[in-house]
Order: sequence, then structure tokens, then C-alpha cells
Amino acid sequence: MQIMFRAMEILEQFRLDGKVAVVTGASRGLGRVFAEGIAGAGADVVITGRDMATLKPVAEEIAGQTGRRIHPVCMDVGNLDDIRRTVAEVREVCGRLDILVNNAGVNHRETALDFREEDWDRVVDVNLKGTFFMCQTCGRAMKEQGGGKIVTILSLTSGIGLPTVVPYTAAKGGMMQITKMLAVEWAEHNIQVNGIAPGFFRTELTKAVQEDERNNWILNRTPMERWGEPEELLGAMLLFCSPASDFITGQMIYVDGGFMAGSDWRKGK
Ligand SMILES: NC(=O)c1ccc[n+]([C@@H]2O[C@H](COP(=O)([O-])OP(=O)(O)OC[C@H]3O[C@@H](n4cnc5c(N)ncnc54)[C@H](OP(=O)(O)O)[C@@H]3O)[C@@H](O)[C@H]2O)c1
Repeated sequence: MQIMFRAMEILEQFRLDGKVAVVTGASRGLGRVFAEGIAGAGADVVITGRDMATLKPVAEEIAGQTGRRIHPVCMDVGNLDDIRRTVAEVREVCGRLDILVNNAGVNHRETALDFREEDWDRVVDVNLKGTFFMCQTCGRAMKEQGGGKIVTILSLTSGIGLPTVVPYTAAKGGMMQITKMLAVEWAEHNIQVNGIAPGFFRTELTKAVQEDERNNWILNRTPMERWGEPEELLGAMLLFCSPASDFITGQMIYVDGGFMAGSDWRKGK
């Protein structure tokens, strides 16, 4: 009986009432879904992107659907001044900062032999450097407050190599290692740091892949034989954002239809 009541309490732990979350890159794609899901669980959410004209209607729509306060902030995660200004604004407008979702990301596809320095720099700055300095700046606020949750959006390339995405692979691998390192260093500050590695989801980022022969490769190679729906990432997201994960840190969950588990030789894949 006691365990049954404990189970009911645990379900309640997934709620985020009274919390304030920051989701970077929430103007579209997966970030927009994360922002709406986190607001749906009860948190106020700051959404960021590089264009206020795109962000504002997204904020209004999510606020209308969830009844939460959704505050849009225009910023570039590759720019440290922007990061500092954004986190100061979050604390001023919302009064606190409990959850950071490092979602903003870019990719550039080119063979390793031909990759240009400026394309390398852009991909690494946004994904790797941006993630670390968002963590550092928000981590300082979380430490002062007595704790927090950081969720970083990783990739299949955090664990395996795929061709033509060398800086993206370096960045996503590095982001996984930063996740582990911060989990260790900030355990004493009650900040849990975890990662979600999505498989293949239809967004602007994967547009090229959706439209050529790689689509067939993805369907053949994924045991569940389909692309993911962005809402299917929310279970892992709410786990890592909420008290339900208070003793989980430094971990990564693949949400990938079984991709990283292996492939099925009976189907000749
Ligand atoms: N889709 C997938 O299958 C997949 C798989 C694995 C991992 N991921 C990861 O999931 C995350 C979201 O990807 P997505 O598929 O949703 O991509 P997306 O549709 O292209 O969205 C990317 C988001 O990041 C923002 N962004 C890009 N550069 C930025 C910058 N310099 N500063 C601030 N914001 C920036 C964009 O906003 P603005 O352009 O308005 O600034 C947009 O909101 C990325 O980290 C990606 O690597 C996606």
C-alpha cells in the first residue's frame, strides 16, 4: 500500500509548477515542442532564437495553449555577451531560473576533406561553445538558488560517426562529455546535468536528409522503421527537467526508435 502511494507521489514529481525554464532555439522545430511541453507541465518558459519577429508569435501561441508566461528573448548562443544579457533578463523578468534546455543547434554538411574553417567555427560555436557558456551562466544562478536542472540536446553523432558532419560530430561528442563533466563538478550544488540524443526527426535541420536517398537508409536502419515524432522526446525531457530525476545525473538517453541498439540482419539491412 505504501509503495502504491509512493508511486502516486512519483507521478506528481513530473510536474513543473512554479519553475522557470529557458529553452534555447525554441522558434521552431524540436525546441518549440520542448518549450510547449515544459509549459504544459506547469513552468513559465523563456524561449530564445535570433529573430524576435519569429519568436513573438510562437510565445503568444504557447502562452495561449498552456496558460503559462512565455517570454521571448532574441539572442545568438554563439555570442557570450548575448548569453549574459539573456540570463540577466531571465532573472529580472522571471525572478528565478530552474531549468536550462540547451537545444539551439546548427549543422553544415560537407566532406571532411573539403570542410572550410568558417563553417567549422559556426557549427562548433553554436553547438559546443554556446552550450558550455549557457551552462556556465545559468549554472551560477542555479548554484545561488540551491540547485537546478540542465538538459542538453545531443545526437546520434554523440556516440557514432556519420559522414559529412565533422564539426557537428565533434561538437555533439564534446557536448556529451561536458554533460558528464558538469554532472560531476556540480553535483555538490544540486545541479543535475543530463542529455537527450534524438534519432531522426523531421525539422528544418534534417530537410536535406528527408528528401534524398538517405530517407530510405534511415527507415531501413531504424528498427522501428520510421522517423520520430517530436512529442516522443517529451517523456525523457520531463524526466530530466523534474524532481523525478533528482538522483540521475551525467546520463544520456537515446530517443531513436532503436537505432543505437543495432540493426536487424534478418531484414537484410
Ligand atoms: N531534428 C533531428 O532529427 C535532430 C536529431 C538529433 C539532434 N537534433 C538537435 O536538436 C536540436 C534542435 O534541432 P531542430 O531539428 O529542431 O533544428 P531546427 O528546426 O533547425 O531549429 C534550430 C533552432 O535553433 C535556433 N538557432 C540556430 N542557430 C542559433 C543561434 N546561433 N543562436 C540561437 N538560436 C539558434 C533556431 O532559431 P533561429 O533560426 O530563429 O535563430 C531554431 O529555433 C539541435 O541541437 C539539433 O542538433 C535534432
